[in-house]
Amino acid sequence: MKAGILDLHREASRVLARLLPNLEQALTVSIKEDPQAWKTFVRHLEAHFDHLFQLYHLLYGTRYDMLFHLENLLKSMAKAAFERPADLRELDRQREQDPLWFQSNQVLGGVCYVDLFAGNLQGIRAKIPYFKELGLTYLHLMPLFKMPEPENDGGYAVSSFREVHLPLGTMAELAQLSRELRAEGISLVLDLVINHTSNEHEWALKAKAGDPDYRDMYGIFPDRTVPDLYEKTLREIFPDEHPGAFTWFEDIKSWVWTTFHSYQWDLDYSNPVVFNRMSEELLFLANQGVEIFRLDAVAFIWKELGTSCENLPEAHAILQGFNAITRVVAPSILFKSEAIVHPDEVVKYISPEECQLSYNPLLMALLWNSLATREVNLLSQALEERFELPEGTAWVNYVRCHDDIGWTFSDEDAARLGINGYDHRRFLNEFYRGRFTGSFARGVPFQENPKTGDCRISGTCASLAGLEKALIEEGPEEVELAIKRILLLHFVVMTAGGVPLIYLGDEIATLNDYSYLEDPKHKNDSRWVHRPAADPEGYSQRLDASTLPGRVYNQMRELIELRKSLPGLAGGKLEAIDTRSGSVLGFARLHQGERLLILANFSEREHAIPEWVVQENKFNHKKVLFGEPEFMESGTLWLPPYACVVFG
Ligand code: GLC
Ligand code: GLC
Repeated sequence: MKAGILDLHREASRVLARLLPNLEQALTVSIKEDPQAWKTFVRHLEAHFDHLFQLYHLLYGTRYDMLFHLENLLKSMAKAAFERPADLRELDRQREQDPLWFQSNQVLGGVCYVDLFAGNLQGIRAKIPYFKELGLTYLHLMPLFKMPEPENDGGYAVSSFREVHLPLGTMAELAQLSRELRAEGISLVLDLVINHTSNEHEWALKAKAGDPDYRDMYGIFPDRTVPDLYEKTLREIFPDEHPGAFTWFEDIKSWVWTTFHSYQWDLDYSNPVVFNRMSEELLFLANQGVEIFRLDAVAFIWKELGTSCENLPEAHAILQGFNAITRVVAPSILFKSEAIVHPDEVVKYISPEECQLSYNPLLMALLWNSLATREVNLLSQALEERFELPEGTAWVNYVRCHDDIGWTFSDEDAARLGINGYDHRRFLNEFYRGRFTGSFARGVPFQENPKTGDCRISGTCASLAGLEKALIEEGPEEVELAIKRILLLHFVVMTAGGVPLIYLGDEIATLNDYSYLEDPKHKNDSRWVHRPAADPEGYSQRLDASTLPGRVYNQMRELIELRKSLPGLAGGKLEAIDTRSGSVLGFARLHQGERLLILANFSEREHAIPEWVVQENKFNHKKVLFGEPEFMESGTLWLPPYACVVFG
């Protein structure tokens, strides 16, 4: 086996030695005009070709035409390197000097829809002062590419990766926006929807027209034979929309692989053309100034008969291949993986060679779990056992996003705490739908599957945390508690390390918006309940602490200031601490010599912590950096309901 690997390294250098002169010849004119770009390209290629070759060989080594496709890929890469604008080349140089820049405690993310938050790209431009006021340094604009109407899964059905959806603006405006954001210290983050295109993408249209080269880019089958074989082992993702993973299209008399909606056609990465074409789209967007790509639905990109077709080794090879390509052409680029799967699988996407960033769906789900149960056992266990990441990577920690909440904790972990995963998920779904007695939440079920009992939850942070119910049915006391819950969740996200990401609207406590039920294109997708348009009144009240949005906003700003003022909150080193109280989460953060102790009370009751918990962990109980804990004469520490405390 070892000999085989060594051989491949030798093959790689041989292949490069053969292909480079061809490339040089094909690009004579460009090289003459811009010799520096060529020099940099070759230097980067020499550093990363070996890895790229190994991956390409793993994916396509059995194809007689592998080298033909590899040569084409190198051509596209070189072309993109020449097209890379000067300011982005400068950014590449800076980030190569400072590769861990994203681990700084100054980094703060925000995410929004262009149309819902600001109308269009010009509107987003006009909001830059607001983003700065909030402290954002990372702005994820939800998919804004050309998309079918009226249905497009919130833009996750892409009809062209090179065109902005017309009502939102143009590609030139997007590039300009990226420059303006960068000048203000904000990195533009966009989705790269790699698993599928819309059925109106040029590739899909040509496939429909019968062009065999384009049909080969998708999973298209004449009858049920192959789909039936696959479906024996597949999970249903959007069972409300269609059962299984395939859709019948009468016009082409074929079944098409559609993991998500029937208008989202899965690409077939076993075809190297798909890998190459998507690499070109990726580099094109990198050259428009995108700094971070959110790689959508990464778990699903490779299919293999007899498997779940999720999280397969080849999916990782594809992502690493894309990563190697960016290292050569646009090394400032970072990837963030969106893998909302079992925690054992989530971490496999995270490494400097694959995705440097990843959503932390486990932390998110367990924050909500702890609010419901007033128990931090699962969360603390997750921090202890599943939080540590490889060097050079970071979690993106979040409270809510545009999607539903899936209870993706590990059943094995839960069992060790005596919790039955299946029953517990049922409880959580009942709780967040507001059907469990005493529940404060107003959530909406998503993709309830009667066959499996599976269900996920939609709802805004504020409505799930109890604000909606408190305002409508209860009173000021409950409102107070709901505000505290909203802040508690954000407190953990701001202090746990990695990149905290705010779902814009949550900072002013936006409630559920049920108007989606009247909109035929959204009424079957409850996620729209938490995708409301920005509330102009709420935003205009944000600086007025006598209003509800103002109160939440002010305190949210304090949390942001807290993060930005404590260098100890940078990086991702975290140690879970047993607080001896089932409701109080404790963890220590450590960065460049600064140590901090974080305590968060997940209950509406006061909780006592013995003094020695603070002292045992070598923290100074007199050095309270945040929050208002009370010390009894005995030394016992009293934490008020939903208290958030930081000791130095
Ligand atoms: C991701 C997106 C989700 C979308 C799906 C299909 O999971 O976050 O909104 O429905 O991919 O693209
Ligand atoms: C699937 C994806 C997940 C996404 C969801 C869309 O479960 O794995 O990423 O959140 O669909 O709601």
